Amino acid sequence: MLTAYDFSMARIVDEAGIDVILVGDSASNVMAGHETTLPITLDQMIYHASSVVRAVKRSLVVVDMPFGSYQGNSKEALSSAIKIMKESGGHAVKMEGGQEIIESIGRILTAGIPVMGHLGLTPQSIYKFGTYVVRAKEEDEAKRLMDDAKALEAVGCFAIVLEKIPAELAARVAKTVRIPIIGIGAGNGVDGQVLVVHDMLGINNEFNPRFLRKYNNLHEQMMQSFQSYIQDVRSGDFPSESEQY
Ligand code: KIV
Repeated sequence: MLTAYDFSMARIVDEAGIDVILVGDSASNVMAGHETTLPITLDQMIYHASSVVRAVKRSLVVVDMPFGSYQGNSKEALSSAIKIMKESGGHAVKMEGGQEIIESIGRILTAGIPVMGHLGLTPQSIYKFGTYVVRAKEEDEAKRLMDDAKALEAVGCFAIVLEKIPAELAARVAKTVRIPIIGIGAGNGVDGQVLVVHDMLGINNEFNPRFLRKYNNLHEQMMQSFQSYIQDVRSGDFPSESEQY
């Protein structure tokens, strides 16, 4: 699984053979430049998701339900999920949280909307955690996470993202529940992996967490391209005779 937020990127990701495209609320960070995922709105998520859906021929498109669109009550959660499905054309939604949002997940599932869970470091709760460090290192939090994963499976989630937790705990969760566990910073004992596409392409050279493998250094390559263009325009080299009418 990889994230995508726009048509052009989603088209390449889909063509490359990715199983699942996540229209993550990380769009708030990487597309809009916010410090957290909290500011992005339902309508902005729908804008990103519909752009992705228009590009996709084969991947499953999962859309993050943004902060504030489902935490109030299960009725509000259901109407937010329905709006996402109707207006974006996405195939499923993802929600952060465990037993505290079970009623909302159940209601959304009853409407026929597939739900992916998200446990561990849940960025929409960053002001409760106070930091982006590894979660569930202590026994009581690890036990709560395991109970939450079982509850998400029992209510009917089709998969769960586990973010930034010890690899041993993630592997134990993956062995305990039967639905696919998708990890980010959760080791390789799980069923799949997810990365933010801008991070794995090395577009942002200031974000270097331990869990991130960079498959390119697009920051450098893009910088070189832009600088060459500036130089060519200033020197009059571009456009050349063959590049004009
Ligand atoms: O919003 C996002 O990109 C995510 C992934 C990091 C799992 O939730």
